[in-house]
Amino acid sequence: MTPILRTIINKETTNTPIWLMRQAGRYLPEFKDIRKLNPNFINLCLDENLSSEITLQPLKRFKLDAAIIFSDILMVPYGLSQKVEFKKDFGPQLGLLNLDEVSQIDEIDFIKKLYPIYKSIEKVSKHDLLKDKDLIGFTGAPWTLLVYMINKHSPKKKLTKDFFKDDFLINRILVILEKFLKLHIDHQVKNGATVIQIFDSWAGLLDEKDLPNYVYVPTLNIVNYVKSLNIPVICFPRGIKNYKNYCDIIKPDAVNIDYETDPISIVKEINIPVQGGLDPKILLTDTENLKKETSRYLEIFKDHPYIFNLGHGILPETDPGMVDYLVKMVKDY
Ligand code: CP3
Repeated sequence: MTPILRTIINKETTNTPIWLMRQAGRYLPEFKDIRKLNPNFINLCLDENLSSEITLQPLKRFKLDAAIIFSDILMVPYGLSQKVEFKKDFGPQLGLLNLDEVSQIDEIDFIKKLYPIYKSIEKVSKHDLLKDKDLIGFTGAPWTLLVYMINKHSPKKKLTKDFFKDDFLINRILVILEKFLKLHIDHQVKNGATVIQIFDSWAGLLDEKDLPNYVYVPTLNIVNYVKSLNIPVICFPRGIKNYKNYCDIIKPDAVNIDYETDPISIVKEINIPVQGGLDPKILLTDTENLKKETSRYLEIFKDHPYIFNLGHGILPETDPGMVDYLVKMVKDY
């Protein structure tokens, strides 16, 4: 069994495993070299040779316990025929949402469009570097994808007033997302993903009263589907105020906490394995501070099944030397 599965399934609390969200990315010079030659991010995700190479880059440098496939949560709206672009210094920009067109996409069209992602997963899963390690497949949660599909770009701190105005559209999109997210997960698992992480990056935008409709019910359907495949599922409802309620309702196999969440209350309240928490900005400081903050998480979770990770993705300004220090420190603890 891999170190991550020992933590999630056997609930072991020794030899804390580590991987990092956005571990394959813009803080690595070898990634920037490839990125420079490939200005279209979607095409890069759809190039099975390059995306598998990028996925493996951090594993060549650091003793991480998992690879996470180099792709994006917005590949699903792309597969559903909505235009998706990534603009420099702005982030994602989606095109018009045409419900008729999205409704007409069938499973074969969708799989055809995203096929290189599954081939890339297959390639990575067979690589020597993956021995005794996990390969993390992922999707956005239905709510977070709905936010992007309707809002068309990252919403910053809150949703516009008219976000919920078209009930019919929202409900149709949620039904369509459920079907295609399951299909996307199924193909990732069939090609070698051994764990699935569900990113609900905008869970924190909702009031408590709206969580059942938009977060709990749709996410629970996806989580139960992953469980039916006998694959562990990690959920990351970033910014949700009540992680305990979320875990009681959704029952993921593990939960990733964000960096604004107090780890001490989490360890008291939550009895499933926990992942993450460290503020990625700590990696921009110095080794002494990094050591102090990393020990804090390791001490708090020393008797709790815990996978070391961050409370959000690695920042592009991060020095790879700091990542090296962090991984070695967790491994030697
Ligand atoms: O290493 C990994 O973690 C795997 C790859 C991965 C990417 N995006 C690559 C990426 C994963 C797991 C994601 C998830 C993702 N994408 C989320 C959920 C996590 C989170 O950050 O909350 C979200 C909301 C997105 C949507 C998205 N994609 C945004 C908002 C942006 C722009 C801002 C940014 O962080 O760059 C992207 C672009 C993106 N996705 C890049 C990468 C490496 C940068 C592309 C570039 O080089 O310009």
